[in-house]
Amino acid sequence: MHSYVTGATIKRLREAKTLTQAELAEQIDVSSKTVSKWETGKGFPDISLLQPLSSALGVSIMELMSGAAVANGNRCANMLRSKIYVCPVCGNIMHTMGEAVVSCCGISLSALEAEDADVNHFPKIQPVEDEHFISIDHPMTKTHYISFIAYVSPDRLQMIKLYPEGEAQCRIRLAKHGYLYMYCNHHGLMRYKLSSSNLAGKDKRPTMPLPAWPPK
Ligand SMILES: [Fe+2]
Repeated sequence: MHSYVTGATIKRLREAKTLTQAELAEQIDVSSKTVSKWETGKGFPDISLLQPLSSALGVSIMELMSGAAVANGNRCANMLRSKIYVCPVCGNIMHTMGEAVVSCCGISLSALEAEDADVNHFPKIQPVEDEHFISIDHPMTKTHYISFIAYVSPDRLQMIKLYPEGEAQCRIRLAKHGYLYMYCNHHGLMRYKLSSSNLAGKDKRPTMPLPAWPPK
């Protein structure tokens, strides 16, 4: 990990739990002097203490190590609030339904922020039998390609992984509500809101100017 637990984090979390240094120390079987040393930056908890320390402080090990408090007010999570993370090192794709501390390959990841699909990433939707055929007129080279298409509705997430030199297309059964997400390895996450008209194949591709890629 790029960071280790800091004294400030331990102190903040301990005080949030209204624990004294002695009370925290007792729970994890160390002395209160040891806790005091950690909080004043004169020492670090041994890695073997991370699990009991995080339990005593009521947070995950990731929260303890990142110092980022995660308050999940989304306990009745709605899939439409889904967050998607892509590791820039290995390409791993992760999905969460609420706030989370996510890391991969030793780095903390931020949730991708979706933009409205531009003309270069605009999905063409055609009803086919009881599904929808989705295609994107986009390069699929090794350096610039659509990495996945995902459909998110209030109760489900479907993700189709795509690969360079394949086709930027898939079949999904779509409903009237929800969003299509298209992830381009260069341009990021694009979002397209579904509606009755675009599901019937009536939505027109926008004609906004093409953003240049690669940039000059
Ligand atoms: Fe792109």
